[in-house]
Amino acid sequence: MELKQMILLSYQIACFYVCVLILTLATAQNTTKGANVIKPGCTNQCGNVTVPYPFGIGSGCAFDSGFEIHCNNSEKPLIGNHLTVYDISDAELRISNVFGWRCYNSTGAVINEDMVSRNFLESSPYSFSALNRFIVVGCDDYGAISGPNNFEYGCSVSCTSREDVMKGGECMGKGCCQKQIPKGLKYYSTTMSSTRNHTDVWSFNSCGYAFLGEADRFHFQGLPDLGDDLTVDYFYERLKATVPIVLEWAIGNLSCVQALERLDDYACRENSHCVDSDTGVGGYRCSCNTGYHGNPYLNQGCQDIDECADPSTNSCERICINIPGSYNCSCPDGYTDDGKKDGRSCIAAYSEFPWIKFSLGIGIGFISLVVGISWLYFSIKKRKLIKVREKFFQQNGGLLLKHRISTKEGGVEATRIFTAEELKKATNNYANDRILGRGGNGIVYRGVLRDTRIVAIKKSRIVDESQIEQFINEVVILTQINHRNVVRLFGCCLEDEVPSLVYEYVSEGNLYEHIHNQREGSWLTWQNRFRIAAEIATTLAYLHSFASIPIIHRDVKSANILLDNAYTAKVADFGASKLIPLDQTHVVTLVLGTSGYLDPEYFQTSELTEKSDVYSFGVVLAELLTGLKPIIRDRNDEQKNLADYFVSSVNNNHLFQILDRRVLREGNLEQLQKTAELVKNCLQLHREDRPTIKEVAIELEGLRKLTGISSSNQHGLGENNQDELSDLYTVPMSSYGNTPNSDSARIMHGRYSPI
Ligand SMILES: *[C@@H]1O[C@H](CO)[C@@H](O)[C@H](O)[C@H]1NC(C)=O
Ligand SMILES: *[C@@H]1O[C@H](CO)[C@@H](O)[C@H](O)[C@H]1NC(C)=O
Ligand SMILES: *[C@@H]1O[C@H](CO)[C@@H](O)[C@H](O)[C@H]1NC(C)=O
Ligand SMILES: *[C@@H]1O[C@H](CO)[C@@H](O)[C@H](O)[C@H]1NC(C)=O
Ligand SMILES: *[C@@H]1O[C@H](CO)[C@@H](O)[C@H](O)[C@H]1NC(C)=O
Ligand SMILES: *[C@@H]1O[C@H](CO)[C@@H](O)[C@H](O)[C@H]1NC(C)=O
Ligand SMILES: *[C@@H]1O[C@H](CO)[C@@H](O)[C@H](O)[C@H]1NC(C)=O
Repeated sequence: MELKQMILLSYQIACFYVCVLILTLATAQNTTKGANVIKPGCTNQCGNVTVPYPFGIGSGCAFDSGFEIHCNNSEKPLIGNHLTVYDISDAELRISNVFGWRCYNSTGAVINEDMVSRNFLESSPYSFSALNRFIVVGCDDYGAISGPNNFEYGCSVSCTSREDVMKGGECMGKGCCQKQIPKGLKYYSTTMSSTRNHTDVWSFNSCGYAFLGEADRFHFQGLPDLGDDLTVDYFYERLKATVPIVLEWAIGNLSCVQALERLDDYACRENSHCVDSDTGVGGYRCSCNTGYHGNPYLNQGCQDIDECADPSTNSCERICINIPGSYNCSCPDGYTDDGKKDGRSCIAAYSEFPWIKFSLGIGIGFISLVVGISWLYFSIKKRKLIKVREKFFQQNGGLLLKHRISTKEGGVEATRIFTAEELKKATNNYANDRILGRGGNGIVYRGVLRDTRIVAIKKSRIVDESQIEQFINEVVILTQINHRNVVRLFGCCLEDEVPSLVYEYVSEGNLYEHIHNQREGSWLTWQNRFRIAAEIATTLAYLHSFASIPIIHRDVKSANILLDNAYTAKVADFGASKLIPLDQTHVVTLVLGTSGYLDPEYFQTSELTEKSDVYSFGVVLAELLTGLKPIIRDRNDEQKNLADYFVSSVNNNHLFQILDRRVLREGNLEQLQKTAELVKNCLQLHREDRPTIKEVAIELEGLRKLTGISSSNQHGLGENNQDELSDLYTVPMSSYGNTPNSDSARIMHGRYSPI
């Protein structure tokens, strides 16, 4: 409430101040005006006539008594008691006229006459202007005007015929004559005489007239004819109405220089200047300085003229700036010179062609064009790319995958679908130095995601429908598996022409390399080999009994066993995996797998069961035991399967000759023998004879307790010189171990396994 009141109060105070300010301004305007235009109680209008200062109506209103104008009946301004004022201007005023005349009767006797004299006091501001002429009208007359200082002028008129009188015309002696008068005439009188007392012309002209009047207003129009008694009156009235007397006026009898010395009654106010009267009798007038107009005898009477308001008062072509007493012309930006119509006008600032502006404009225009076009191009390209990506996404089974992911309950929350852009960034646009390995159906890149996770990104190499299915397959299976010995799948990208999978990055490469290249072989102790074998078996067992849907890996091989930094085995490459529904023991499918590891029965029948994985596992275990490659070349350069070689060696009691030396050195003999026995069982030609992987895992778990160091038994083969290429081919469709056909060829090089 208090606040409200305070605000209200402050409003009131503000209002009060504003009102006072307005009032003050208005009063100030009135007082200044009143003080200078007309004194209080004075008026400047009398009838039609404006009476400007220094003139004044009534005593005390004028500059001095000489400028007093009488306005007794409020209609006719008068000077003195009988001179009617018609108008007052800066230098002169016009008053009513008066005529001298003389009339004769037929015998030459003067029957009527009126001579004129006008007299202003020496102190009066008025004098008769040189704009007046002394005029004599008649047919037998002489008129004279006389004034101070022995001034006397005269002229005579005569007529030869009646026509001379009637027609009028030039005032050149025939019926009319005129004489100039001197300046500064303060008084005059007229006289008339006649040579023959009009006796010769009396029949048509009986009167003569002599008067002073404004020359410009008098036009000789002939004389009234005799016989009309009203002639004189008529003529008199006509002239009086049309031909005034012009008076000049000036202030005092001092020159400007003298007046300025006596500043106390100097009449000229600010923005005005003094002008000497040219009458020769002294006195001066005031005039507003150029650029000002108004009354120079009043304070602030001379006001600045806003020349810019009226095009006729300024000579600016474009921009007019009013300044006190004058104006400046200027030109708009980019133009120069005086800006005057009659001067040099406005000229473009750059008299030469404005190359800089021009080229700047062109440049900017061009850049804009380029930017615009590129923008258009890129946006179209981007749209296209988006379209293409959408297409690929669909073609790559994105919808299928989405559907599958969405219908699976649980276990997939960590899986996500990456965008192509994301992966491009993660792999530094698939740079060559990011390549981890080239696999059978794709290249594997090392990638760094935005959250700094290091991942392996597998980009498929070939696209065809079966591959896509395999891909989706892998994604779907892996998303369901969360096992420490299975390579984790983070997600996939289906927007590119070739789909990509994003895996956990496993740092130490694959088992194949470790066994056969022995580069980092120091860790490959028998115990580690055994542990890895156990890990693989356990993992496969897990897969085979996975939930309600067993998973067959189908491509178990050492190259698909990855090792992390703790040399823990991680099973990879589920590209060939296929889910087997519970009610089916096998699935008739395309034979997939890698030569050397392939279950011969599966190869022959195309019937896939879990036992195929058992066979392949047997080969990997044989590899671990012997350090030999799955396909070995003997001295005759003939290829043979490690599986067959291993089985025959066991059967022929040559086991210790084929075991890896280190294994032989470090292994417990019983353990080695039993393990070899296990391998042999796994490699049974008939799948019914093989154990399940679970049994294998349990067996290995049991054998683990038999660990011990065997220092003897230095049997074994020397490191073989098998050709690595033998492993680089997948199993051809048509024949086992033959040259591959290009379609199913899976070339592998590099140390990273194709997943
Ligand atoms: C200003 O003068 C005019 C007449 O000249 C008068 O009507 C008006 O009331 C005056 N205003 C003030 C504020 O004195
Ligand atoms: C004022 O002047 C007009 C013509 O200019 C005239 O008709 C009128 O009668 C005059 N009025 C007075 C009062 O003189
Ligand atoms: C006009 O009035 C003045 C005084 O105000 C007086 O002296 C003068 O005689 C008067 N003139 C006429 C023509 O009435
Ligand atoms: C003219 O005037 C004179 C003097 O008044 C007089 O004697 C004479 O008769 C007049 N002439 C005529 C024709 O009236
Ligand atoms: C004209 O008139 C005057 C005075 O009336 C007289 O003195 C003079 O003689 C006259 N002249 C003639 C030529 O009649
Ligand atoms: C000028 O006028 C004053 C009175 O206003 C007078 O006393 C003085 O003699 C005059 N001077 C001349 C040169 O006329
Ligand atoms: C007007 O022009 C003159 C010279 O041309 C200059 O000195 C003056 O500052 C100008 N005034 C304004 C208000 O532009």
